[in-house]
Amino acid sequence: MVTQLMQDFIRTFGDGGDIRKYFAPGRVNMIGEHTDYNGGHVFPCALTIGTYAIARRRDDRKIRFYSQNFEELGVVEGSLDHLVYEKAADWTNYPLGVIAAFLEHGYTVDNGLDILLFGNIPNSSGLSSSSSVEVVIGVMLRDMFGFEDVTMTDIALYGQYCENHFIGVNCGIMDQFSIAMGRKDQAIFLDCGDLSYTYVPLELKDAKIVIACSNKKRGLGDSKYNERRAECEEAVEELRERLDIQTLGELTEEQFEANKDLIKSEVRQRRAKHAVYENQRTLKAVEVLQKGDLAEFGRLMNASHVSLRDDYEVTGIELDTLVETAWEQDGVIGSRMTGAGFGGCTVSIVKADCVDAFIENVGKVYLDKIGYAADFYVVEIGDGGRVLQ
Ligand code: GLA
Repeated sequence: MVTQLMQDFIRTFGDGGDIRKYFAPGRVNMIGEHTDYNGGHVFPCALTIGTYAIARRRDDRKIRFYSQNFEELGVVEGSLDHLVYEKAADWTNYPLGVIAAFLEHGYTVDNGLDILLFGNIPNSSGLSSSSSVEVVIGVMLRDMFGFEDVTMTDIALYGQYCENHFIGVNCGIMDQFSIAMGRKDQAIFLDCGDLSYTYVPLELKDAKIVIACSNKKRGLGDSKYNERRAECEEAVEELRERLDIQTLGELTEEQFEANKDLIKSEVRQRRAKHAVYENQRTLKAVEVLQKGDLAEFGRLMNASHVSLRDDYEVTGIELDTLVETAWEQDGVIGSRMTGAGFGGCTVSIVKADCVDAFIENVGKVYLDKIGYAADFYVVEIGDGGRVLQ
């Protein structure tokens, strides 16, 4: 694959110079949804699918992009002298935003670049193709310009900076962090309050991770994502009347129940309840997984979906159909929506010998009810962003 991409790069941008290769994965979150920006815990892992970047420095200040996923756009040209978000710049806003983040943090990027990208993460699937682009560009800038003091955590933070300050999506750190820091066959138990983390082997014994993409069209930017975040922040403000807290992730269920009367709207109470309970559920899930109790881990995944459906209200008929149908299938240990929601995909743990029937049955029910097909992927857990040899 990389050899082919090298040839494509040379065909697009010409031969010669020091052409380098990079990769960053997509991610799937097992549990801990909409907890990252609430100072809580998440439990994502990196996938083996992701974004490849082939790049070379230029002598001028032009940045020329070509994505094989958006061939119809051809070569898109940008400049180091014009690092501002523009709708017409389309997907290249992500790399431009990451370059802007590096500059903002004191790094000097004084040469332009030719960059070819190819991603095998399904677009708009909710597996974080945009964060994957951000991290692969971060890894590339560090390598190309010799920013040796830049850590993988920094690369994750610069990706998030790009989303927050350039793209205008108020996302948390989960996606970029898991994509930067992923490790084969392990999930990352990350405390988003202070970015401390441990790797936990995701031992699924005879089971597989199956991702179902709803194929519902959506974009994080125009979704209700920012609205949910604002609702949680408002709830924190109300709780602070009695409690000395900065985030909902600091609360136990008991503390929340004893103080929820401070939150003046019923809707905001449910949003905050999800954030608090989901964080506690994530702590429990990691604990039971480490004890080898996969069945209980699965039950907590299911409970996570119910909370996202009823209290946080970020699921919708597509994701609910996928998950509720999954729960009825043989060999399903747990199933829930994953990522931001409002479309995107679900993650299920399914016994290996039941995977075929699972895909067939859930696929059929989905098509009948929703009117278009879902796509299914049996995925493996891979390593984080890296330079390719
Ligand atoms: C998106 C955001 C993440 C996180 C999830 C929900 O993927 O980018 O930061 O908030 O939604 O858990």
